Amino acid sequence: MKPHLKHRRTKGLKYVPLNEKLYTYLIDARSREGDAVLNALRAETQKKFEADSHMSIGRDQGSFMTMLVAAIGAKHAIEIGTFTGYSSICIARGLPERGKLLCLDASEEWTNVARKYWKKAGVDKKIELRLGPGADSLKKLEPGIKFDFAFFDADKPGYDTYYELVLPRMRSGGLILFDNMLWGGRLGTKRRIKHPNGKAIDKLNRKLAKDKRVQSVLLSIGDGVHMCRVLG
Ligand SMILES: C[S@@+](CC[C@H](N)C(=O)[O-])C[C@H]1O[C@@H](n2cnc3c(N)ncnc32)[C@H](O)[C@@H]1O
Repeated sequence: MKPHLKHRRTKGLKYVPLNEKLYTYLIDARSREGDAVLNALRAETQKKFEADSHMSIGRDQGSFMTMLVAAIGAKHAIEIGTFTGYSSICIARGLPERGKLLCLDASEEWTNVARKYWKKAGVDKKIELRLGPGADSLKKLEPGIKFDFAFFDADKPGYDTYYELVLPRMRSGGLILFDNMLWGGRLGTKRRIKHPNGKAIDKLNRKLAKDKRVQSVLLSIGDGVHMCRVLG
């Protein structure tokens, strides 16, 4: 056995490092892998906003989220950080016909592209967009609105605030997903984290692991998804 595999096995560490070939293989091995709307959205995002186009979630993560939303029978969802709409379409597709997704984002320019693709994907009737800083929009939410599914993919230092504002509105058994929680693979070393994004992510990962209000698992999908199931 190769020494690195022996090392992993004796330590009980089970994972497969990804590379481009393997990643391409896994994204091809999904239902809807030839999804015309999502592929067109990705292409337009790349063309119009090349420098920021990496912000859309990956295809596998999108499929995973559609499946999760449908699997828990979610009817009401919230997303903070919509960009050009990739993740919102994936969430909305998992919702039933009368399901609702509330999208919060600060950028009109980026979300104008999202609006166009919500129509193309036939999910526009399920989605409401509110523009402005995420925390402000959350503080202004009407009382009584509850969610079964939440996805956070905006400014990283804001995640904990979003979490504390959204958690009381979550139904028991609902799911909260935080994106980019492996911070490009820069976590888990002994080096002191100085960057505010890395600091916020690391602090929140540790907080969620101990938080008795949720059951949590940090998954190595995309840039890392920390998934919490709301208890109680
Ligand atoms: C990583 S992108 C979201 C990508 C999106 N989930 C997707 O899959 O295409 C981050 C988004 O968060 C938004 N954002 C950043 N800071 C924000 C804030 N304080 N309040 C609201 N939205 C914010 C940005 O405008 C941007 O559209």
